[in-house]
Amino acid sequence: MEREPIGVVGVGWVGLVTAACFAELGHEVWARDIVPEKVESLARGEVPIHEPGLPELVTKNAERLHFTTDMAAVLEQTELLFVCVDTPPTYSGDADLSRVRAVVERLPEDAEHALVMKSTVPSGTGAAIRRDMPGLAYVSCPEFLKEGSAVDDFLNPDRVVIGSDPGDEWAADAVASLYEPLGGEIVRTDVASAEMIKLASNAFLATKISFINEIANVSEEVGADVTEVARGMGLDDRIGGAFLKAGIGYGGSCFPKDVSALKQLAGNSGYHFQLLNSVIEVNELQKRRVIGKLTKHLGSLVGKRIALLGLAFKPHTDDMREASSLVLSARLQGEGAEVVAYDPVATGAASGLLTGTDFATSAEEALDGADGAILVTEWPEFADLDWAAMAEKMRNPVLVDGRNFLDPEAIRAAGFRYEGIGR
Ligand code: UDX
Repeated sequence: MEREPIGVVGVGWVGLVTAACFAELGHEVWARDIVPEKVESLARGEVPIHEPGLPELVTKNAERLHFTTDMAAVLEQTELLFVCVDTPPTYSGDADLSRVRAVVERLPEDAEHALVMKSTVPSGTGAAIRRDMPGLAYVSCPEFLKEGSAVDDFLNPDRVVIGSDPGDEWAADAVASLYEPLGGEIVRTDVASAEMIKLASNAFLATKISFINEIANVSEEVGADVTEVARGMGLDDRIGGAFLKAGIGYGGSCFPKDVSALKQLAGNSGYHFQLLNSVIEVNELQKRRVIGKLTKHLGSLVGKRIALLGLAFKPHTDDMREASSLVLSARLQGEGAEVVAYDPVATGAASGLLTGTDFATSAEEALDGADGAILVTEWPEFADLDWAAMAEKMRNPVLVDGRNFLDPEAIRAAGFRYEGIGR
């Protein structure tokens, strides 16, 4: 069967996963980025991000993956253009749509091409683009993949949201048929609702995290264990157990940006979204609460050497965007501490961002001589450390487990003073 060729514009995280997965499904994919060095290295099969399974897919489907800087080539080969460019927050907290606009301005206003928006954009973006370019078909197809399991999320979606407005059904039908083999429920709706589904989903998940973080903080006061509380809550189908892990706050490229974008979107429309203000504030405070857990055991942090275990915003990625480690490192140094950090893959990405921080090449090296440690990212290898040997190596065996990742009893038995979050 002849498969529809796919155009991908913007080969970042979402773009590269989209390109590689459509190639895996048998489509010829024409993927365009403006950065020539990135295109050249991708054409050589080099994947610039750490994402499990992605290099293998890129290598396996190399013949069907065409990386280019030439938009004309993409337009010539494909009808459906998946737009996957960045929409970073601006100073006002609105999403910066300049990269989306730069793409749209280069598109011919013909009846053959359809723009399929995967980038997260505020509700109303589709309507604005259609106003500017009434001849171009527009489909909203927001992306829900998680870093670290992006390939699996793409190939096994819970649901695929496809939004279109009257006149563009042909394009929405074409997009739906691309996703049908994957088996997730396909939600057909209008463009504004599809855009809102994406922002609301991320804001809701962030709200769940801030909620459980506050429950954790109260649990500390009343002697409850938040992991037990979350387990008991999560078994209620109406609540669900996912995203109820208390810790040192959410980070990454999506939650902080999308919560803020939804708040601004509401504000710009004249609605004050009170709940999201709290979600954001709780998350900011949660990163900083860790300092108090250290001072409880160590007193003043002036001159103390504190090890950060894990730097990325979550495990299985080297992404440092909005990582809690950035705030922690700066805050610890603000308290006069020396910071030494280790991450299995994110050290390269972190080195320019974590100023004044020493980097170790292993967890053992980071802990050697340290006065305290914070587990920031729950990399599996930290569960396998010989913690009794680590306690020996440290000057003061104090551990704040920022992700409630380790077994408190085992860590205490290994000789540590252990502090979790909400237990
Ligand atoms: C998220 C959404 O899950 C995804 O659907 C969307 O497309 C992009 O944003 P991602 O940013 O890759 O994905 O990471 P995710 O696994 O959702 O975690 C986000 C942050 O929340 C991480 O910092 C993580 O540590 C934190 N988190 C997650 C918690 O603190 N507790 C939880 O229970 C879950």
